[in-house]
Parts: sequence; C-alpha cells; structure tokens
Amino acid sequence: MNNNCTAPVINTDVLIVGSGIAGLMLALRLQSSDLKVVLVSKAGLFDSNSSWAQGGVAAVTGANPFDSPEIHLIDTIKAGAGLTNADAARSIIFNGHRLIAELDRLGVAFEKNPVGAYDLALEGGHKQARVVHNKDTTGRSITEALSAKLLAAAKENKNLIVLENTIAINLRTTGDVCCGAELLKDGSKIIVHSAHTVLATGGVGQVYERTTNPLVATADGIALAYRIGAILSDMEFVQFHPTALRLDHAPAFLISEAVRGAGATLLDHRGQRFVKRFHQDGELATRDIVARAIHSVMSENDLPQVDLDMRPIGAAQIERRFPHILKTCGHYGIDILTQPIPVAPAAHYMMGGIKADVAGRTSVTGLYAIGECACTGLHGANRLASNSLLEAGVMALNLGDQLLASDCKSVRSNVNQKRNEQVLLPADLPIFRAQMYRHAGLVRSQSGLNMLLKAPSKTVSESQMTTEQYSHRNIFQVGLLIAQAALLRTESRGSHLREDYADLIRTPGMVLRDVSS
Ligand code: SIN
Repeated sequence: MNNNCTAPVINTDVLIVGSGIAGLMLALRLQSSDLKVVLVSKAGLFDSNSSWAQGGVAAVTGANPFDSPEIHLIDTIKAGAGLTNADAARSIIFNGHRLIAELDRLGVAFEKNPVGAYDLALEGGHKQARVVHNKDTTGRSITEALSAKLLAAAKENKNLIVLENTIAINLRTTGDVCCGAELLKDGSKIIVHSAHTVLATGGVGQVYERTTNPLVATADGIALAYRIGAILSDMEFVQFHPTALRLDHAPAFLISEAVRGAGATLLDHRGQRFVKRFHQDGELATRDIVARAIHSVMSENDLPQVDLDMRPIGAAQIERRFPHILKTCGHYGIDILTQPIPVAPAAHYMMGGIKADVAGRTSVTGLYAIGECACTGLHGANRLASNSLLEAGVMALNLGDQLLASDCKSVRSNVNQKRNEQVLLPADLPIFRAQMYRHAGLVRSQSGLNMLLKAPSKTVSESQMTTEQYSHRNIFQVGLLIAQAALLRTESRGSHLREDYADLIRTPGMVLRDVSS
C-alpha cells in the first residue's frame, strides 16, 4: 500500500463522493458547465442504496387530482413525530414535480397509464397515492438511466472524471475550510484538492447485523464529516423497515411497502391480522408503528418472524407490478403467489446525519452533504416512505444550481498533510453489528446502550489500513455515535423507542402495547 506523500494529486472544482441518485444527478447537472468534476464511487456505479430502492419517489405531479403538495407536507410532518423541519420539508416537497420532470427528461422509465399520466402507488403514512415508480425496481431504473448518461458524458468531456472502486478515506482541511479528500484506489492513495467537496455517500445500514442496505452502506460520509468537526444531527433516528425477508440463509431482502399499499396483509403465527390492534391505519400506518407492532408480536410470542401475505393482491397484479420480489423470493424457495413471506424488521434508513440545508450546505465551509448522509430535518424522527429519493434528488438539483452560480476557486491544502494515526476498529465486527441490532435497534435502553459504548476495540496504524478496514472504522465510529445520541434522548419518539422511557411515547396515534387483550 502506498501511503506516502508522493501520492498523485488531482485538482478539481467539485469532488462528489458517492454514486446514488444524489451524486449522479449533481454530476449530470454540472457536466455541461466548464467546471471540473470528479465523481468517486466506492464500488461500481450501481452499488448504492438508491439502486436498491423498490418503492419509488413520493412527489405531487398532478397525476392524482385529489393530491396536493400541502397534503404531502402534512403527511410528512405527521410521520416525523414532531421533529420535522417544516421549512426544509416545504421546500423539498414543493420541488417534487421539478425533480420528476428532470428525471423524465434524463430518460428514467417511470410507469405511465395509457393516457400518459404517472402510475401512482400508495404507501404507509400517505393519505393519497403519490409514489411515482417503475414496477418494484424504481431505484435501479433511475440509477441505470443516470449512470448511462454520465458515462457517455465522461467519454466526451475531459473535465468529468468518474473513479469507480475508490473510497474516500479522509477529508482534507485548511484551517476551518474543507478543501478536498484523500482517496484510496487499488491500495494506493490519491490526493484531491477541490473547491467544493460533496458527500453523497448514502446510508448506514451495515452498522447493523440485519439490514436491507447493500454492503457499501457503511456510514462513510457521516464518519468523514464527523472527523473534521462538521455538525451532525438526529443520529438516534434510524428507520427499521417493517418487512425484510427473514430466512436463516438469506439476506434481509426488502419487501416493498408498496405491496401493503396494493393490499398485502401482515399475519401473526395464528394467521390473524394484528397491526390494527396497534394503530387504526393498520398495515398502512407509518413505518415506525408497523415495525414496532411486528416487534411486539414477535417478542410476546417468541417468534423469529411474522408473515406478509401478498395473495390478496392477486396473481396477475403481483406478476405485473412486483416481478423483482416474485423472482427473488422464488429464488429463496418462497412462492409469493401461493404462500406468505416470513418477514422481520431490518435497519433501512438513517434519518439523521450531517446537518445540512436543502442545498447541502454544512457547518464546514467547502463541505456539502446531499441525500441520505445529510440531515435537513425533512424526515424528523421517522421518514415517510419514498421521501428519500425525493430529498436526495431535490438537494442535488439545488446544490447544482448553487455551484453553477458560484466562484469555484480551489483552495490548496498542504500536500504533505500527514496522517499516521492509531485508528480504532471494532475488536469483532460481526459481534459489534449484532450488538447494535440488539441494543440500538428498534428498542433501546440505558443499560444496553451503555454496554454498546464499551464495545471492545482494537487499534491499527492508519498507514496499514485496507479499504475494508476504513469501512469498519466508519461503521464503528457511527455505531457509537448512534448509541450516544440514543442514550441522550430520554423519551420515545418516532423510530426511537426507549423501553425505559416508554410512557413518553411521541408518535401520534401509537399505543405501545397491544390494547385489545
Ligand atoms: C419500500 O419500497 O418499501 C422502500 C421505499 C423507501 O424506503 O422509501
């Protein structure tokens, strides 16, 4: 590994770290200007949370005459359990139609009806159908279209560089200003000087043993920003998706909330529906409520899972609308046309992150955060389904506008900036991730969180670290930040349930325990 100061140097106007919808859209927005742009992807361009998104983009497009941005805003604020930043939410939601029009223009194949209007799905917490989608692989459709455009642009435009299989390992600073990053590619360091450094690194799912997120979701952006002193916010709020496949030898594959919007039901071990006992909206209550209802039924009856029954949707509609879920469950031996799917909650989305405004500006000059690694306050204590691609896309458009209007003068850091620190890694990563799931998952307590904060660690010299170890460092650092924040919030609100403060529950309409018995 080459960790010495002879590392090659790239000077650029904008460095974008991450290749989900936020990073790709921003790069595309800037590529026709004379700005020099470098986009870095930790694995391949398609390895992102965005690519794995099934549901779609929540947006008011005019296709549903009963919907309006005001209703979408109310649904979002209600889901956020009192912590939504209403100004940020208004700004993002009222730009939803602009984002969809832009994605359409860029060639994303959204499903439309015979008269050309968007086909809209219903998901939990939404009072109207408003989720623009492409079957159950919307994220893939978006990232495929955007990546194809970006790679074509990079062939023509020498000012646009795409680096795959490259991890950002540290941000660089001059005084209080962020002025680039150190990258690691094929074991060798690259130094990037950039006037503007944009983190679009996505989520934190791999901090937990059970997650719907891909392997690349190791909290990198949040850890990078934290290490240079950027303000983080709402770190205790981690959303658990209620319905991830639960089989012994299968990953926690996401079963989209859209299936419940289309009529799928949740059943306990007696084959009885149960979510209505916890909330009047039943299977279409917000995610925090449904996940917690499942958790309660599982723990009261000592079950590893509950069942998600898609049969009420009907075979023809399942085949047309949910082919990816049909195929993937089939691969693991579950025929969803004839049998229910075993499911349990899994870590899915980070509501908190690097504190940012709706154009991605953070507390550090020169550093921006867009998409899941950022925290604008849109999601409050619990994200409304399908608001994430919306937020990521709108933030990318906003930041693009801002950078196009700005003076991009690169600030050089000292190329010899040396870092040979001793770095903390978890002593045993699988054990740490299992403990995070157990003690900083759906249900938390002071004793469990305190135990996490004492998780055994080991030290390594940074100059010896591999790409994998950099990811493990970020998982550990952000896992401990989640535990610290969860310890400080002595109430139960949205996705954060403290069993030692359960009586202070602040999720509208939620009852903690099954009240029917
Ligand atoms: C889903 O399809 O249920 C996931 C969409 C989201 O997380 O917003």
